Amino acid sequence: MLEKEIKLERLKEECKNCHKCELGKTRNNIVFSDGSTNAKIMLIGEAPGADEDKTGIPFVGRAGKLLTKLIEESNLSREKDFYIANTVKCRPPENRVPKDEEKKECEKYLLEQIKLIQPKVIVLCGATSAKSFLGEKIKISQIRGQWFKILDNIDATVIFHPSFLLRNHSEQEGSPRWLTKNDLKKIKEFILK
Ligand code: URA
Repeated sequence: MLEKEIKLERLKEECKNCHKCELGKTRNNIVFSDGSTNAKIMLIGEAPGADEDKTGIPFVGRAGKLLTKLIEESNLSREKDFYIANTVKCRPPENRVPKDEEKKECEKYLLEQIKLIQPKVIVLCGATSAKSFLGEKIKISQIRGQWFKILDNIDATVIFHPSFLLRNHSEQEGSPRWLTKNDLKKIKEFILK
């Protein structure tokens, strides 16, 4: 195993034993990551839902299936091109938005994941993830599709969260799904550069 994988495994073990916030009491599984540790794209979501809590894998429920479909329709591979993680590694009860203290306690794991993966681009998926890196004031509908530099000069962009897209079915030009497909195409172009 490469040093990177060993360090990620160690971090995952640490996370499994983590009880630094309330979510440690109610989770069934931590949800650490999915995809390739050599991926150029790191996608960061919000937090696990019920299906993710059950399986320990991010984005496997209804929203995750839609995300996977959109990734595939953009001729990208979820397994090869993406390393997927969440802002918070344990499921918030009733799928509520993670609290500030939960995000704060969990930040260490996410930052270490980014450091080890060294992605070419970070995709901030949805408001919770975008706010963590770009500030609480941002409005997702205003900044999706824009590109930023975050942390130590890492390129990052923002896409709608697939839960939002589940409530917006239209694929017409200008619709959230149409915009997301365009955003994913731009991300593909960027990693091929
Ligand atoms: N929503 C997220 O943000 N992450 C998941 O893993 C599942 C649903």
